[in-house]
Amino acid sequence: MPSNYITSILKENRIFYPPKNFSKNAHIKNMREYEKLYRRSIKNPEAFWAERASQLDWFKKWKTVLRNNKGFFKWFEHGQLNAAYNCLDRNIKKNKDKTALIWEPESGKNKTYTYEQLLKEVCKFANVLKNHGIRKSHVVEIYLPMIPELPIAMLACARIGAIHSVVFGGYSSDALKDRIQDSKAELLITADGSFRNGKIYPLKDNADKAVKECQTIKKVIVVKRSSKKIKMKKGRDYWYHKLINEKHIKDFCEPESMGSEDPLFILYTSGTTGKPKGILHTQAGYLLYVYQTFKWIFDIKDKDIYFCTADIGWITGHSYIVYGPLSIAATVIIYEGSPLYPEPDRFWRIIDKYKATIFYTAPTAIRALAKEGDSWPKKCSLSSLRLLGTVGEPINPEAWLWYYKVIGKKKCPIVDTWWQTETGGILISPLPGATPLKPGSATKPFFGIEPDILKEDGSKTKTDEGGYLVVRKPWPGMLRTVWRNPGKYKKKYFDKFGVYLTGDNAKIDKDGYFWIMGRTDDVIKVAGHRIGSAEVESSLVSHKAVAEAAVVPYPHKIKGNAIYAFIVLKKGNTKSEELKETLRKHVSQHIGPIAKPEKIQFADDLPKTRSGKIMRRILKAIAQGSSEYGNIAALADPSVVQKLQKEKIR
Ligand code: WTA
Repeated sequence: MPSNYITSILKENRIFYPPKNFSKNAHIKNMREYEKLYRRSIKNPEAFWAERASQLDWFKKWKTVLRNNKGFFKWFEHGQLNAAYNCLDRNIKKNKDKTALIWEPESGKNKTYTYEQLLKEVCKFANVLKNHGIRKSHVVEIYLPMIPELPIAMLACARIGAIHSVVFGGYSSDALKDRIQDSKAELLITADGSFRNGKIYPLKDNADKAVKECQTIKKVIVVKRSSKKIKMKKGRDYWYHKLINEKHIKDFCEPESMGSEDPLFILYTSGTTGKPKGILHTQAGYLLYVYQTFKWIFDIKDKDIYFCTADIGWITGHSYIVYGPLSIAATVIIYEGSPLYPEPDRFWRIIDKYKATIFYTAPTAIRALAKEGDSWPKKCSLSSLRLLGTVGEPINPEAWLWYYKVIGKKKCPIVDTWWQTETGGILISPLPGATPLKPGSATKPFFGIEPDILKEDGSKTKTDEGGYLVVRKPWPGMLRTVWRNPGKYKKKYFDKFGVYLTGDNAKIDKDGYFWIMGRTDDVIKVAGHRIGSAEVESSLVSHKAVAEAAVVPYPHKIKGNAIYAFIVLKKGNTKSEELKETLRKHVSQHIGPIAKPEKIQFADDLPKTRSGKIMRRILKAIAQGSSEYGNIAALADPSVVQKLQKEKIR
């Protein structure tokens, strides 16, 4: 397996220890404590999680902690609880006036919600949903920008037992359509537009196009966010602000009592096939897992002000903006727009404005902001910060060191958190008061998590040897299935080794530290976003000029990876820069701007085996500027390789 370039630009061998006063006050204070508890948690994960579960509020206690039902794992069966109740009502007792949400718009006036206010808003909208016929186990699609109505809508669903399926607001109408068709949602919540870099993105127009091809959607609720003129279809479309202000809408709604294994949400993510998979998370195990990881990995204290820059449309936002932080009564900042708007110091200004103490972002954002120069963060104080975090892709030591020195002023530990949409929460990460840090390593597993690295034959790799990252034991936050496709759940995650297969390539060093090196499958992480090469390829071949397309990652300074597309045109089309631009736009409209190929190379032929299978490893090597293609003898026509190499886009 190729090692990812990101971990090899600079070797940083220094170890960074947690500051003494940080450790003193931390939930987990040193490695002895970590190791002792870790050993216990692995010896008996069920006992460990049962102990922790009492931190949630249950309507009825569970009977069994874990049951393996033919490869489908069930946690805390016979228990009853409600996720929104755990995030809101129970916090009201002690934290009624504590700020729950701070919303920073891209421009305009900010808004804050106390726990009491948030509960009221959630209840009102839950009542609106009920009025519109939504009940327990109905699916509600949410296609919203980063505005308070997004977490409010999610929690309103959770309150009445409806299953939410959030679609990232930067996706196009086609991507939305695919997801609704698979989820079979009955109601869609969207906005008239969203702001990014001062421009309006036409969410409602996209929604209209998508809904035309989705018969299951009966109603659309529209949040007014911009001044964009939109069409409202009578009998189908309703304004959010009108609905919640109707006189008969009460500001309390009884929370539905949910079984531990009832679905909480579906979130679509890219895999190896053309269509995204609906990852299903359920109630109790997920909530407990995000609660516990948030508490200890972010070492959360009552006074913390926590700022996570992820979009709620991704799992990071679900777990570490909404369910984790709110279930522990934290104060959360959400930001609507671009980090570069109006200038590249927006994140730093937000930190100063609200005195944020914890900041969680992606390596791609760190690289992009570091490139703008130190003068931007230096104009800000950043003195409120005490802890930093990263997620989504491997962080290269240069970016890590910049983050540590320029943003954290050498006093903030960095938690490099490794996890996935499927894992629900963080599985490998430092504990900031305990773990000595090595830049570029996600360090050690969380409690109850037993990761391992395997070779193709299922045997363990040696120290520092790359291989398949797997997780040996089930954990409460894991996915329960692929929505309406249990066969895929088994095949994709368990068939190869009989234990959970992550799809990542990783190694363990002599100190037991994990180093994540990238994907082993056809998933590409572009700027931290997860994109399936098959999705981009099927979008490209849907264009009339394209006969064949193959898409691979190549290293990119800011985005970590970018997309390189090899395209064979249909006869009669001319290779031109203009056509390249048209194809980029096509993908952008089809999936979303995040999936656009950065480089396009027109080819007369692609390297194929005699049975017609495209050999991606060869294309990957070409795109990465390497001539280590491995064996090319199996190719139907080996001369293709040289030709492609000659015409490579630099
Ligand atoms: C990658 C994001 C290295 C990894 C929460 C994983 C990481 C995929 C890290 C999941 C990290 C995530 N270091 N790689 N700290 N965190 N990844 O589902 O390849 O969008 O499999 O979830 O992101 O992406 P997803």
